[in-house]
Amino acid sequence: MKTAIVTGAAGNLGKAVVRKFLAEGFSVCGTGLLPAAWTGYEGNQVDLSDETASGDWVSSVIKKQGTVETAILTVGGFAMGDIEGTGTKDIADQIRLNLETAYNVARPLFLQMLKQGRGTIFFIGSQAGLDEKKSKGVVAYGLAKSLLFRLAGLINEEAAGREVRAFVLVPFIIDTPQNRASMPGADFSTWQTPAFLAETIFSYAMAPGGKEPVIVI
Ligand SMILES: NC(=O)c1ccc[n+]([C@@H]2O[C@H](COP(=O)([O-])OP(=O)(O)OC[C@H]3O[C@@H](n4cnc5c(N)ncnc54)[C@H](OP(=O)(O)O)[C@@H]3O)[C@@H](O)[C@H]2O)c1
Repeated sequence: MKTAIVTGAAGNLGKAVVRKFLAEGFSVCGTGLLPAAWTGYEGNQVDLSDETASGDWVSSVIKKQGTVETAILTVGGFAMGDIEGTGTKDIADQIRLNLETAYNVARPLFLQMLKQGRGTIFFIGSQAGLDEKKSKGVVAYGLAKSLLFRLAGLINEEAAGREVRAFVLVPFIIDTPQNRASMPGADFSTWQTPAFLAETIFSYAMAPGGKEPVIVI
């Protein structure tokens, strides 16, 4: 049976990704707890900003599962602030939440995927990480997310010629209860459901060859 790793599995996007990969017959190991009825999912509480704890968790998954075919690293979060309102601590906090939580899992997994000879890693970027115009007012968030694009590029450089690929999914606005509560007047029909994003990730995981690494939805 193929194995997928999902971080932030109890979050909005994470849950949808777990549901999709379970439905497709994957065994899913994740961070975050889900009800026992989610058969085939094995969750752990791990602080992914802790490099050692993250590495130990990835090792335990590899030991148990043998191989990991794909990883979807959804942990991340948002912070407001223009340049005047953003200090280096704010930037460090956002880098810890959006980059380090991904890097601490991607790094040991990348080495495993090179050994296996195949694998895909998905980061969740954002429009603010891609375009400084969309980063106005969310300076620390935009800077932190931008590093995920660079990380995916570095992985693809190091893995050149092998079947190990990194992608960055760039959602517009995810249709979540939190977004609905904070933007009550918005047209929710233009937003992307977590299930739609999960479908997209799955299709890339199944056929990564020849695809562009940045997936703007
Ligand atoms: N929502 C949007 O419109 C939008 C748009 C563009 C990009 N994104 C990105 O999409 C991704 C998923 O968004 P979402 O709405 O699904 O987020 P979410 O519901 O807030 O889920 C994030 C999950 O990450 C976990 N987490 C936070 N810090 C952690 C840590 N140090 N170690 C382990 N787990 C940690 C949280 O667990 P706890 O709750 O237990 O802390 C939560 O379950 C994020 O990277 C976000 O930046 C979102």
